[in-house]
Amino acid sequence: MPLKLPNIIGHRGAAAYAPENTLESIQTAADMGCKWVELDVKLSKDSVPMIFHDDDLDRTTNGHGPFADMKFEDLRDLECGHWFSESFSGIKIPTLEEAIEIILQRDLGVNLEIKPCPGREVETAEAMLDVLSQIWDDRDRLLISSFSHVSLETSLDMANDWYRGLLLESEPMENWKELADYLEVSTVNIDGRTANRELVEEIMDTERQILAYTINDQQLARTLRQWGVDALFTDDPDTVSEDLFKVH
Ligand code: G3P
Ligand code: MG
Repeated sequence: MPLKLPNIIGHRGAAAYAPENTLESIQTAADMGCKWVELDVKLSKDSVPMIFHDDDLDRTTNGHGPFADMKFEDLRDLECGHWFSESFSGIKIPTLEEAIEIILQRDLGVNLEIKPCPGREVETAEAMLDVLSQIWDDRDRLLISSFSHVSLETSLDMANDWYRGLLLESEPMENWKELADYLEVSTVNIDGRTANRELVEEIMDTERQILAYTINDQQLARTLRQWGVDALFTDDPDTVSEDLFKVH
Protein backbone atom coordinates (compact mmCIF):
# COMPACT_ATOMS: atom_id res chain seq x y z
CA MET A 1 0.00 0.00 0.00
CA PRO A 2 1.46 3.39 -0.93
CA LEU A 3 1.63 6.04 1.77
CA LYS A 4 -1.22 8.57 1.69
CA LEU A 5 0.75 11.76 1.30
CA PRO A 6 -0.53 15.32 1.26
CA ASN A 7 0.50 17.50 -1.69
CA ILE A 8 2.71 19.64 0.49
CA ILE A 9 4.74 19.01 3.63
CA GLY A 10 5.85 21.87 5.87
CA HIS A 11 9.67 21.88 5.78
CA ARG A 12 11.28 22.03 9.24
CA GLY A 13 7.76 23.08 10.28
CA ALA A 14 7.08 26.25 8.35
CA ALA A 15 10.64 27.53 8.11
CA ALA A 16 9.80 30.75 6.28
CA TYR A 17 7.49 31.91 9.08
CA ALA A 18 9.03 30.63 12.33
CA PRO A 19 12.46 29.40 13.43
CA GLU A 20 13.03 26.01 11.76
CA ASN A 21 12.66 22.75 13.67
CA THR A 22 10.98 24.29 16.72
CA LEU A 23 7.62 23.62 18.36
CA GLU A 24 6.58 27.10 17.21
CA SER A 25 7.41 26.15 13.63
CA ILE A 26 5.28 22.99 13.85
CA GLN A 27 2.38 25.00 15.29
CA THR A 28 2.75 27.59 12.53
CA ALA A 29 2.69 24.90 9.83
CA ALA A 30 -0.48 23.44 11.36
CA ASP A 31 -2.06 26.91 11.61
CA MET A 32 -1.25 27.44 7.91
CA GLY A 33 -3.08 24.27 6.95
CA CYS A 34 -0.22 21.78 6.52
CA LYS A 35 -1.28 18.18 7.12
CA TRP A 36 2.30 16.94 7.51
CA VAL A 37 5.61 18.41 8.63
CA GLU A 38 9.21 17.41 8.03
CA LEU A 39 11.70 17.58 10.92
CA ASP A 40 15.40 16.72 11.29
CA VAL A 41 16.49 14.45 14.13
CA LYS A 42 19.93 14.45 15.78
CA LEU A 43 21.34 13.13 19.04
CA SER A 44 22.75 15.12 21.92
CA LYS A 45 26.10 13.90 23.23
CA ASP A 46 24.24 11.94 25.90
CA SER A 47 21.94 10.40 23.27
CA VAL A 48 18.69 12.33 23.60
CA PRO A 49 16.96 12.59 20.18
CA MET A 50 16.38 16.26 19.41
CA ILE A 51 15.04 18.28 16.51
CA PHE A 52 17.88 20.14 14.80
CA HIS A 53 19.36 20.51 11.32
CA ASP A 54 22.98 21.69 11.26
CA ASP A 55 26.05 19.88 12.57
CA ASP A 56 27.05 23.17 14.20
CA LEU A 57 25.12 25.38 16.59
CA ASP A 58 26.20 28.73 15.22
CA ARG A 59 23.60 29.51 12.53
CA THR A 60 20.42 28.94 14.52
CA THR A 61 21.36 29.24 18.21
CA ASN A 62 23.38 31.43 20.54
CA GLY A 63 25.82 28.52 20.99
CA HIS A 64 29.01 27.71 19.10
CA GLY A 65 30.69 24.64 17.70
CA PRO A 66 29.48 21.11 17.07
CA PHE A 67 26.01 20.03 18.20
CA ALA A 68 27.47 16.55 18.84
CA ASP A 69 29.69 17.88 21.66
CA MET A 70 26.78 19.13 23.77
CA LYS A 71 24.81 17.23 26.37
CA PHE A 72 21.06 17.62 26.59
CA GLU A 73 21.17 19.97 29.60
CA ASP A 74 23.67 22.24 27.83
CA LEU A 75 21.63 22.30 24.65
CA ARG A 76 18.63 23.33 26.74
CA ASP A 77 20.52 26.36 27.99
CA LEU A 78 20.71 27.66 24.45
CA GLU A 79 18.05 29.64 22.67
CA CYS A 80 17.20 29.11 19.00
CA GLY A 81 14.71 31.80 18.02
CA HIS A 82 16.49 35.15 18.10
CA TRP A 83 18.45 34.61 14.85
CA PHE A 84 15.10 34.37 13.05
CA SER A 85 13.31 37.24 14.73
CA GLU A 86 13.31 38.99 18.06
CA SER A 87 9.73 37.92 18.66
CA PHE A 88 10.94 34.31 18.96
CA SER A 89 13.78 35.08 21.38
CA GLY A 90 14.30 32.59 24.16
CA ILE A 91 12.76 29.47 22.63
CA LYS A 92 14.47 26.13 23.12
CA ILE A 93 15.63 23.28 20.88
CA PRO A 94 12.87 20.67 21.21
CA THR A 95 13.29 16.99 21.94
CA LEU A 96 11.76 14.47 19.56
CA GLU A 97 9.29 13.59 22.28
CA GLU A 98 8.09 17.18 22.65
CA ALA A 99 7.74 17.54 18.90
CA ILE A 100 5.69 14.34 18.65
CA GLU A 101 3.43 15.58 21.43
CA ILE A 102 2.56 18.68 19.39
CA ILE A 103 2.19 16.62 16.21
CA LEU A 104 -0.32 14.36 17.96
CA GLN A 105 -2.18 17.33 19.46
CA ARG A 106 -2.44 18.97 16.06
CA ASP A 107 -3.31 15.71 14.30
CA LEU A 108 -0.44 15.94 11.83
CA GLY A 109 1.57 13.37 9.89
CA VAL A 110 5.34 13.58 10.04
CA ASN A 111 8.44 12.91 7.99
CA LEU A 112 11.30 12.40 10.42
CA GLU A 113 14.59 12.85 8.64
CA ILE A 114 17.40 11.11 10.50
CA LYS A 115 20.25 13.62 10.30
CA PRO A 116 23.06 11.99 12.25
CA CYS A 117 26.10 13.89 13.42
CA PRO A 118 29.12 12.32 11.71
CA GLY A 119 29.84 8.84 13.07
CA ARG A 120 26.50 8.47 14.90
CA GLU A 121 24.47 7.02 12.05
CA VAL A 122 23.44 3.81 13.83
CA GLU A 123 22.91 5.32 17.29
CA THR A 124 20.76 8.17 16.00
CA ALA A 125 18.40 5.80 14.23
CA GLU A 126 18.29 3.49 17.24
CA ALA A 127 17.57 6.22 19.78
CA MET A 128 14.97 7.85 17.54
CA LEU A 129 13.17 4.57 16.92
CA ASP A 130 13.30 3.64 20.61
CA VAL A 131 11.55 6.86 21.60
CA LEU A 132 9.17 6.71 18.67
CA SER A 133 8.08 3.14 19.26
CA GLN A 134 6.83 4.19 22.70
CA ILE A 135 4.78 7.17 21.57
CA TRP A 136 3.75 6.63 17.94
CA ASP A 137 1.55 3.95 16.44
CA ASP A 138 0.10 5.38 13.22
CA ARG A 139 2.19 3.84 10.44
CA ASP A 140 0.14 5.63 7.77
CA ARG A 141 1.24 9.05 8.94
CA LEU A 142 4.95 8.53 9.41
CA LEU A 143 7.80 8.52 6.93
CA ILE A 144 11.36 7.92 8.11
CA SER A 145 13.95 9.25 5.71
CA SER A 146 17.67 9.88 5.56
CA PHE A 147 20.60 10.65 3.32
CA SER A 148 22.46 8.14 5.49
CA HIS A 149 22.20 4.58 4.20
CA VAL A 150 23.46 3.30 7.52
CA SER A 151 20.64 5.05 9.40
CA LEU A 152 18.11 3.65 6.93
CA GLU A 153 19.59 0.17 7.25
CA THR A 154 19.20 0.41 11.03
CA SER A 155 15.59 1.51 10.52
CA LEU A 156 15.00 -1.45 8.22
CA ASP A 157 16.34 -3.80 10.88
CA MET A 158 14.53 -2.22 13.83
CA ALA A 159 11.23 -1.02 12.40
CA ASN A 160 10.72 -2.82 9.14
CA ASP A 161 7.02 -2.00 8.90
CA TRP A 162 7.41 1.78 9.08
CA TYR A 163 7.65 3.53 5.70
CA ARG A 164 11.13 4.59 4.70
CA GLY A 165 12.35 7.15 2.17
CA LEU A 166 15.77 7.42 0.53
CA LEU A 167 16.99 11.00 0.25
CA LEU A 168 19.03 11.80 -2.85
CA GLU A 169 21.45 14.71 -3.10
CA SER A 170 21.18 16.99 -6.11
CA GLU A 171 23.72 14.70 -7.83
CA PRO A 172 22.16 11.28 -7.12
CA MET A 173 24.64 8.46 -6.58
CA GLU A 174 24.85 6.01 -9.49
CA ASN A 175 23.54 3.04 -7.53
CA TRP A 176 20.45 4.67 -6.03
CA LYS A 177 18.15 2.00 -7.45
CA GLU A 178 20.10 -0.84 -5.85
CA LEU A 179 20.15 1.05 -2.56
CA ALA A 180 16.43 1.75 -2.75
CA ASP A 181 15.80 -1.97 -3.30
CA TYR A 182 18.18 -3.06 -0.55
CA LEU A 183 16.78 -0.58 1.98
CA GLU A 184 13.20 -1.43 0.95
CA VAL A 185 12.19 2.21 0.72
CA SER A 186 8.71 3.25 -0.36
CA THR A 187 9.70 6.74 -1.41
CA VAL A 188 12.62 8.50 -3.07
CA ASN A 189 13.06 12.10 -1.94
CA ILE A 190 14.83 14.27 -4.49
CA ASP A 191 16.20 17.78 -4.71
CA GLY A 192 13.41 19.33 -6.75
CA ARG A 193 15.45 22.46 -7.45
CA THR A 194 17.93 20.58 -9.61
CA ALA A 195 16.08 17.40 -10.62
CA ASN A 196 15.11 16.71 -14.21
CA ARG A 197 12.18 14.88 -15.71
CA GLU A 198 14.32 11.87 -16.58
CA LEU A 199 15.15 11.25 -12.92
CA VAL A 200 11.47 11.58 -11.94
CA GLU A 201 10.51 9.07 -14.64
CA GLU A 202 13.23 6.64 -13.61
CA ILE A 203 11.91 6.70 -10.04
CA MET A 204 8.33 6.29 -11.25
CA ASP A 205 9.48 3.19 -13.16
CA THR A 206 10.52 1.68 -9.82
CA GLU A 207 6.93 2.23 -8.58
CA ARG A 208 7.98 4.35 -5.68
CA GLN A 209 6.43 7.61 -4.54
CA ILE A 210 8.47 10.75 -5.12
CA LEU A 211 8.89 13.69 -2.78
CA ALA A 212 10.83 16.82 -3.69
CA TYR A 213 12.63 19.33 -1.46
CA THR A 214 12.68 22.31 -0.92
CA ILE A 215 10.19 24.05 -3.17
CA ASN A 216 9.23 27.64 -2.41
CA ASP A 217 8.32 28.70 -5.92
CA GLN A 218 4.87 28.22 -7.49
CA GLN A 219 6.05 27.64 -11.03
CA LEU A 220 8.57 25.01 -10.00
CA ALA A 221 5.91 23.39 -7.81
CA ARG A 222 3.55 23.11 -10.79
CA THR A 223 6.26 21.71 -13.05
CA LEU A 224 7.24 19.02 -10.55
CA ARG A 225 3.60 18.05 -10.04
CA GLN A 226 3.15 17.78 -13.80
CA TRP A 227 6.14 15.49 -13.99
CA GLY A 228 4.48 13.23 -11.41
CA VAL A 229 6.07 14.21 -8.09
CA ASP A 230 3.70 13.15 -5.30
CA ALA A 231 4.55 15.64 -2.54
CA LEU A 232 6.61 18.79 -2.12
CA PHE A 233 8.49 20.01 0.93
CA THR A 234 8.10 23.74 1.33
CA ASP A 235 9.27 26.38 3.80
CA ASP A 236 6.42 28.56 2.60
CA PRO A 237 3.04 26.80 2.73
CA ASP A 238 1.34 30.04 1.75
CA THR A 239 3.06 30.27 -1.63
CA VAL A 240 3.20 26.54 -2.30
CA SER A 241 -0.14 25.48 -0.80
CA GLU A 242 -2.47 22.49 -1.12
CA ASP A 243 -4.82 24.84 -3.02
CA LEU A 244 -2.26 25.34 -5.76
CA PHE A 245 -2.94 21.80 -6.94
CA LYS A 246 -6.75 21.78 -6.76
CA VAL A 247 -8.40 21.12 -10.09
CA HIS A 248 -10.89 23.94 -10.74
O1 G3P B 1 13.91 15.90 3.89
C1 G3P B 1 13.95 16.87 2.90
C2 G3P B 1 14.99 17.93 3.16
O2 G3P B 1 14.81 18.41 4.46
C3 G3P B 1 16.41 17.44 2.97
O3 G3P B 1 17.37 18.43 3.11
O4 G3P B 1 19.06 19.74 4.32
O5 G3P B 1 16.69 20.49 4.31
O6 G3P B 1 17.36 18.51 5.62
P1 G3P B 1 17.63 19.33 4.41
MG1 MG C 1 15.49 17.83 6.42
